[in-house]
Amino acid sequence: MTEGARRPMMAANWKMNKTITEAERYMAALLPRAANSGGVDVAVFTPFTCLGVAARMAENSEVLVGAQNFYFEDSGAFTGEVSAPLLLDIGVDAVVVGHSERREVFGETDEVVAKKAKRAVDAGMLPVICVGETKEERDSGGMWDKVSGQIKAVMDELGDADGNSVVFAYEPIWAIGTGDTASPEDAQEAIEQIRGLLRETRDDAFADSVRILYGGSVKPDNIAEIMAQEDVDGGLVGGASLEVESFEKLIEAADK
Ligand code: PGA
Repeated sequence: MTEGARRPMMAANWKMNKTITEAERYMAALLPRAANSGGVDVAVFTPFTCLGVAARMAENSEVLVGAQNFYFEDSGAFTGEVSAPLLLDIGVDAVVVGHSERREVFGETDEVVAKKAKRAVDAGMLPVICVGETKEERDSGGMWDKVSGQIKAVMDELGDADGNSVVFAYEPIWAIGTGDTASPEDAQEAIEQIRGLLRETRDDAFADSVRILYGGSVKPDNIAEIMAQEDVDGGLVGGASLEVESFEKLIEAADK
C-alpha cells in the first residue's frame, strides 16, 4: 500500500468542555458540512455526558463519535468508570486512549494504555492511541526512549490486529494547549520514526496502513504545512476544534 492510500483523519478532542446544549448546536452545524468532507474521516471526542446525544445525532452520518477514555474491564466493581459495552450501547464508534492528560494527571501507565487499546480493538471501537514526550525529555535527548516505549507496550498487547483497526497520535506534551506547535519537520521526523518502529515490530502492511496523526496546537493557520508532511495522516485537535467554523477549516485542509 502506498502512502497515498491512507485516508486522512481530522479529530476533535473537546476535553472537559461543552454542555449537552452546546454539543447539540455543534453537531447540528458540523454534520451537514462534514457530509462534504470527501476523502477525510471526521471524528469528535466528547465528554461522557454529551456522548449519547452526539452519537445519536451522528448515527446516519460518516462522522465518528468517540469517548475520551474508558476502562478495559467490561463490568463490575469499578466505581466511576465506563466500559466498552456501555459505550457501544450508546452508539460510540471510537475512543481516545492514553492521552497525555490521562497519563500525566491521572497516572495511566503504558501497561494500562496498552490494555485499553487492545480492549477497544476487540470490542470493535477504533482507538486513537496517544504518545508523546515532555519538554524535559525532549531537551535531554530522551524523546525516542519515551515514545518508543509507549508504542512497544501497545504493540506487545495488540496481537495481530491490523493497521486499519487502530490510529496513533503523536502529541508532544510541550505542544499541547501551549500555542507552541512542533515544527512540521519535527512532526514529520517523529511520525516517520514511529512508522519505522511499527514496520520493525510488525510488518510493512501494518506500517503502511496505520494512520498516525499529529496533535499539539494545531490551528487553521498551521494545518496546511503539517498536513503537507509525508507521514502525517491528520490531526488530533483540542482548542481549535471547539468552534465548528475552525474545525471545519481543519477538515478542509486535511483533504490532501
Ligand atoms: P490542543 O490539544 O490542540 O489544544 O493543543 C491537542 C490535544 O491535547 O489533543
